[in-house]
Amino acid sequence: MTIDHQACDFAIYGILGDLSRRKLLPALYQLDREGLLHDDTRIIGIARHDLNRQSFLDHIREGLHRFIKEDLDNDVVNRLLARMHYLLVNLDVPDEYSRIKTFADQKKRLLINYFSVAPFLFGDICSGLAHAGIIEPSTRVVLEKPIGRDLASSREINDIVAKYFSETQIYRIDHYLGKETVMNLLALRFANSIFTTNWDHNTIDHVQITVAEEVRVGSRWGYFDKSGQLRDMVQNHLMQILTLVAMEPPVNLHDDSLRNEKLKVLKALRPITHDNIDDMVVRGQYGRGYIRGNEVPGYLEEAGGNPASTTETFVAIRVDIDNWRWADVPFYLRTGKAMATKRSEVVIHFKRLPHNIFADSYQNLPPNKLIIRLQPDEGVEIEMLNKVPGIGQGLQLQRTMLDLSFCEAFNNSRIADAYERLLLDIMQGRQALFIHREEVERSWQWIDSIQNGWQQSHEPPKTYPAGSWGPVASVALLARDDREWEE
Ligand code: BG6
Repeated sequence: MTIDHQACDFAIYGILGDLSRRKLLPALYQLDREGLLHDDTRIIGIARHDLNRQSFLDHIREGLHRFIKEDLDNDVVNRLLARMHYLLVNLDVPDEYSRIKTFADQKKRLLINYFSVAPFLFGDICSGLAHAGIIEPSTRVVLEKPIGRDLASSREINDIVAKYFSETQIYRIDHYLGKETVMNLLALRFANSIFTTNWDHNTIDHVQITVAEEVRVGSRWGYFDKSGQLRDMVQNHLMQILTLVAMEPPVNLHDDSLRNEKLKVLKALRPITHDNIDDMVVRGQYGRGYIRGNEVPGYLEEAGGNPASTTETFVAIRVDIDNWRWADVPFYLRTGKAMATKRSEVVIHFKRLPHNIFADSYQNLPPNKLIIRLQPDEGVEIEMLNKVPGIGQGLQLQRTMLDLSFCEAFNNSRIADAYERLLLDIMQGRQALFIHREEVERSWQWIDSIQNGWQQSHEPPKTYPAGSWGPVASVALLARDDREWEE
């Protein structure tokens, strides 16, 4: 395979942290295995611990073994380790950035700075890099979430980074945009004429987006409790899925074409405020329950938890998009921790037929559904009615599924982790799958209004048993509109 990108110095700030071990290094391993890393690409691990090269490499090797599920190819592991270098830099000490300057070689390699650290350090890193005179027009920075906890703090972070880098140098990650099936939404919508022409208020009744997680908050309690499911999952991942489902066709897949169309959707979201929040949003918190037959504690009883917390672990929202395409077509979003199972999907519910010619046998013909399974068991299903074969019993109809499992359709080919695609895009300078500053801020603006509504109402979240599909009130959210969740 020809590689059309140049050699990089890929610097990871926070190389010893959880994200690097779980996601970034395994993704780099897979890219190396596939021959997608340039021969001269190096990985510079940066942290504040005093480590010699051997113990650094031992630590990386152990992480690869722990977090990559398949058998490792030792040649690839050794090749990857040979690319790795460790630099001790205290991120708040500007003089220490000269170590990066001495090591990096921007004449031969593109310098990519991946900030896999808490956002309060982003400013220190940017000013440290500037202090050392490392920033060139080609230098890139990668920002991990959370980019703020509201509009004001996200602006602060974006402003600091913008002092040193232009928007074309900044890559804001939302790992959902790197997922194979999230990207397949584009293919489904814009490569198939049956969907390009049937994707609006004329044919669609409503849309459901579910991102259910089985995991509990557990050891992440301290971090999660300050954020909650609305900030942790809706502001970024669910909003991104929503924009891909709802946007107008982009002119092409170039960087800004896609991002501009997503932004237009965010601009058209009808605000949810204190006045309508009770009709539009349900927030929940898991209590004690059973997941896969095992009794698990409630959110307030998790180790290290504060029993008085009112942070939500579940949220369901009715979203209205005020534009021509989606007039009177609600989008229902729901996401939660400690739910019955891990399942992410988009379900497009089509409208009922205007006239039923089978009324003698069937009063109500169930409308068609398109189910896009994002994870696990990635695939696409269409629920439709067919005639049951046979003569003599009159005309019988039955609901049947056209089921396309990606795994079967594509010969069990491995589905790459989201980070693999995203890291490759960063190295190759493609920005389409990264979030533009305006998207982040628009999305926070909409989320802030919900947070303010909650603050004013003082209503605690509704409890749901761990291992369920959320509070009963979320069923009522749809029942009010004469609809129900896809189960
Ligand atoms: C992260 C959230 O962004 O996404 C986590 O902070 C969440 O709370 C995770 O569990 C879900 O990602 P995935 O890829 O497992 O669906």
